[in-house]
Amino acid sequence: MSDVIWHDVECARYDADLPLWRELAARAAGPILDVGAGTGRVTLDLARLGHAVVALDVDAALLAVLEQRAQGERLQVQTVVADAANFDLPRRDFAIVMAPMQTVQLLRPAGRLGFLRSARAHVAPGGLVAIALADALECFDAEHVLLPLPDRLIVESTLYSSQPVALRDHGETVAIERLREVLTPDGRRSASDDVLHLDRVSVAEVEAEAQAAGLTPLPVRIVAATEEHVGTSVVMLRG
Ligand SMILES: C[S@@+](CC[C@H](N)C(=O)[O-])C[C@H]1O[C@@H](n2cnc3c(N)ncnc32)[C@H](O)[C@@H]1O
Repeated sequence: MSDVIWHDVECARYDADLPLWRELAARAAGPILDVGAGTGRVTLDLARLGHAVVALDVDAALLAVLEQRAQGERLQVQTVVADAANFDLPRRDFAIVMAPMQTVQLLRPAGRLGFLRSARAHVAPGGLVAIALADALECFDAEHVLLPLPDRLIVESTLYSSQPVALRDHGETVAIERLREVLTPDGRRSASDDVLHLDRVSVAEVEAEAQAAGLTPLPVRIVAATEEHVGTSVVMLRG
């Protein structure tokens, strides 16, 4: 359960990209595949607007929570436990295959190529593949800058707080180091570290790889940075 809570703490509050996904969905004539859907931040938002969404994630526990939330709101959402780097679904007529919030930067280069091939195979002719990439990740640590504010969530009176404490260059990846703290209602406090590696990859590199996989680049869309989150470039590809 704690993985689900940390996922919600660190992802669920982000909403700067929702207008773009809503805009793309409104123009889509068919179902949407949300890759790396997690607990459903984007999937549920689009389902609330009446779109048919299939939520794919490698983590069955996250998708189980997504399903509970969908049922709680009487939303129709289908979930699929699968690897974004190599998936094979019965339907291949998705109007949009979308990968919000840097999910594709978790796949490493071979996985990214597998994702592009899988996305190409599942998007309808003329459909859209949209991939969010974090803009230039400037390295920092606590000794040199004011740290970003922590993400916080209260679940059953327990406070969960996740503070990015460093962004370190590891060559082909950037490591996001976080300090996770828990404060229970009876005052017990605990802390642990978490490290997430994001691939360093540019829009141009993904577009070139996508072309090799049979997708055609369209103009990139931008989600502006907010006080709490870096900006995002969304690679747009025609199927
Ligand atoms: C940064 S979160 C984004 C969650 C959600 N899309 C959002 O925007 O809030 C990345 C998600 O990708 C999923 N993920 C990581 N590697 C994956 C893989 N190989 N295949 C499918 N999903 C993966 C994680 O379980 C997680 O839910």
